[in-house]
Amino acid sequence: KAGVVVAIDGPSGSGKSSTSRGVAQRCGLEYLDTGAMYRAITHWMLEQDVDVSDPNAVAQHVHRPRIAMGRDPQMPTVSVDDRDVAAEIRSEWVTGQVSAVSAVPEVRQRLVADQRSLIDAAVESGNGIVVEGRDITTVVAPHADVKLYLTASTQARASRRSDERQTEDVAATQAALERRDRLDSTRSTSPLTQTEDAVELDTTGYTLAEVIDVVADLVAQVR
Ligand code: C5P
Repeated sequence: KAGVVVAIDGPSGSGKSSTSRGVAQRCGLEYLDTGAMYRAITHWMLEQDVDVSDPNAVAQHVHRPRIAMGRDPQMPTVSVDDRDVAAEIRSEWVTGQVSAVSAVPEVRQRLVADQRSLIDAAVESGNGIVVEGRDITTVVAPHADVKLYLTASTQARASRRSDERQTEDVAATQAALERRDRLDSTRSTSPLTQTEDAVELDTTGYTLAEVIDVVADLVAQVR
């Protein structure tokens, strides 16, 4: 069999990234963080002073930045025009604006096309790939071999995020996270939605190792 495609969607803080990387590492697959691509394009727009609240302005510049994604799960990288932006794309500045940019249809068209070429390449030339995001099971790779929807209670998601960011303010983190989820699930183009045929995994109360075991088993079944 050619390489497998593992598609993982879910809201922020559901454990997508750690799970996806862990599964990719365990199963010898590539790893693609599509959220990092939306963050990278947002960062570029903000640096260029594009008014990101104006969808027409965003659409006009969408093809200018060159985004390169390193797909090694041990050390995923993201660069824009040959500059490493891995740290900058996690800033509050970018996090606060990314939902507006990712709601622009032209942005999604461009990035979905980029994502599909990376997936095709991983399937043709290697073992396959784990892809995480919001519309992977529904739009980017609806025919993936394994389709997962990760959830966790809002409190669990907020406290994981606060640990990651090393902030004490769990309440503020939770408010920001709920705002982003609301924007991501109510936009008209490819909102975050759960499909019938995706396996739902509620990670509340489970350790990362336990979740990785479950998903790695699902991957082993389709290989
Ligand atoms: O996964 P992460 O939180 O880094 O994603 C950042 C943002 O990128 C999300 O809040 C969402 O607006 C957007 N996104 C998206 N579609 C994806 C992945 C991320 O719209 N497949």
